[in-house]
Amino acid sequence: MNNIFFRTIPICINAFNTALDLLFLLKTKQVMNKTVEKVLNEQIIKESSSSQLYLSMASWSENQGYNGTAQFLYKHSDEERVHMLKLVKFINERGGIAKIPAIEKPPINFDSMLKIFESLLAHEIKVTESINNVVDVCLKEKDYTTHNFIQWYVSEQLEEEALARNILDKLKMIGNDKGGLYLFDRDMENAAISTDTVAAEK
Ligand SMILES: [Fe+2]
Ligand SMILES: [Fe+2]
Repeated sequence: MNNIFFRTIPICINAFNTALDLLFLLKTKQVMNKTVEKVLNEQIIKESSSSQLYLSMASWSENQGYNGTAQFLYKHSDEERVHMLKLVKFINERGGIAKIPAIEKPPINFDSMLKIFESLLAHEIKVTESINNVVDVCLKEKDYTTHNFIQWYVSEQLEEEALARNILDKLKMIGNDKGGLYLFDRDMENAAISTDTVAAEK
C-alpha cells in the first residue's frame, strides 16, 4: 500500500509541473488586438494590390519598348510585395492571424507613360490615407507596439509620394516629345540600377 503511494508521488508532481507550464504558456502567449489585426489585414490587401498594379504597369511598359521604366516598375512591384510580407510576419509574430488575400486583377492597358504615373500617384495617395487610418486605430486602441511598427510605412509613403510627383512633373514637361521620352526611359533605368546598388550596400 505504502509502495503504491510513494510511486504515485513523482507522477503527481510531474502532472502538476506540466499543468503549471501550460498555464504559463497560455498567460505569455500574445493575443493581438482584434481591431488592429483587422486594419492590418486590410493593409495586406492594399500592399498586395499595389504590387499587382505595378507589375501590370511594368509589363505594359516593356511591351511598349520602355525597358528602363519597366525595370523600375518591376522593382517597385517587388518592393510592394515586401511591404505585404512585413505585415504578414508582424501580425503572426504578435499573436494574430495574417490573411493572405486573393490576387486582384489590375488593368492591362494604360494608354501612356503619363497615365501610368498619374494612376501610380493616385494609388499611393490612397495607400497613405489607409496607413494614416492604421495609425489612428493604433492610437485609439492604445497599441503602441503596432504604432511604432507602422511608422516605417508612414516614412515609406512620404518617399513614394514624393518620387511619384517628381516623375510626373518630368513627364508633364516632356509631353509627347519622343526624344524626351527616350531620355526619360534611360533615366528610369538608371534610377532602378542605383536603388539596386543602395539595396546591395545595406
Ligand atoms: Fe507599400
Ligand atoms: Fe507604395
